[in-house]
Amino acid sequence: MRIFVTGGAGYVGSHCVKDLCEHGHEVVVIDNLCKGHRSAVYAKARLIEGDVGDAKLLRSILTATKFDAVMHFAASAEVGESVREPLSYYHNNVSNTLTLLELMRDAGIHKIVFSSSCATYGMPASVPIREDTPQLPINPYGRTKLAVEWMLADSASAWGLGSCALRYFNACGAARDGSIGEDHNPESHLIPIILETARGRRSQMSVFGTDYDTPDGTCIRDYIHVEDLASAHRLAIEAIEPGVGQAFNIGTGRGNSVLEVIEAARRITGQEITIEEVDRRPGDPPILIADASRIGQELGWKPDWTDIEDIVGSAWQWHQSHPEGFEDD
Ligand code: UFG
Repeated sequence: MRIFVTGGAGYVGSHCVKDLCEHGHEVVVIDNLCKGHRSAVYAKARLIEGDVGDAKLLRSILTATKFDAVMHFAASAEVGESVREPLSYYHNNVSNTLTLLELMRDAGIHKIVFSSSCATYGMPASVPIREDTPQLPINPYGRTKLAVEWMLADSASAWGLGSCALRYFNACGAARDGSIGEDHNPESHLIPIILETARGRRSQMSVFGTDYDTPDGTCIRDYIHVEDLASAHRLAIEAIEPGVGQAFNIGTGRGNSVLEVIEAARRITGQEITIEEVDRRPGDPPILIADASRIGQELGWKPDWTDIEDIVGSAWQWHQSHPEGFEDD
């Protein structure tokens, strides 16, 4: 397939581009490189530097080349920032996606895979979370992702859009071949923060809340390796049928607490990793674990990376070999 990928220089996008190219797909990436990295884009893919909000540029790309499908990653993705700057989130995540969908409709492109999030579920009443668990987001980021899910669902019957919203749990890890990995600035996610501490970039790290109703008192998350996210995207895009809107959870179905992840990192890195127990971070649900059986049954997807030590180890390998992250920054 010929696939147009927005945000293909970002963390999840770049791993998906690599996987698509390695499986024989032709990929054109648009990325404004404000968070993404030029050298994260797989060599066989074509990178167009530009903003997904630039309707004129997008129209010219989508009319000059006949694409079979779109993968849409370009978005703002920090929960805390979304609380401080909601309009920027609605602009980047909802308004820009609306424009993209209009241009897809005009260009006759009827397939899209969309990066959604477990943040659309908010504070779920029970776990594991199924796709039919009520979606009640508790922050602007989650609401923008849910708004796009609605646009996709409404477009299926109205103009024949085929869509697949993939609700990621906690994306982590790096490519097995060591070529690409996670490089955010500043870093806000647990595993890279742990590894920055292990590398001495921080003297200590905070554990946000030790009084949750979980076995060790810290939050439990479902850490899904970015290569498994990539295979889910590929299977989804290959299976989409015009006029059908679907949504799948993407997680391992297993949960690890913050302290368990830190312990795994201590074993992998051999470093002490000093922690400071601090107050809860506002808005953190105690436990988020996916029931990802639907995508297994419907598309035959299953995660290859299920052991937290292996997952942390792959991230550690990337950070060891790229101490300054991507070199084009
Ligand atoms: N944590 C710490 N210390 C840190 C960083 C994180 O204790 O320095 C804890 C958090 O409190 C949380 C867990 O580690 O319990 C994971 O935190 P992350 O920030 O890595 O990830 P989140 O679970 O907050 O975020 C993920 C996705 C978001 C999504 C959100 C939905 O990355 O895109 O789940 O809740 F919106």
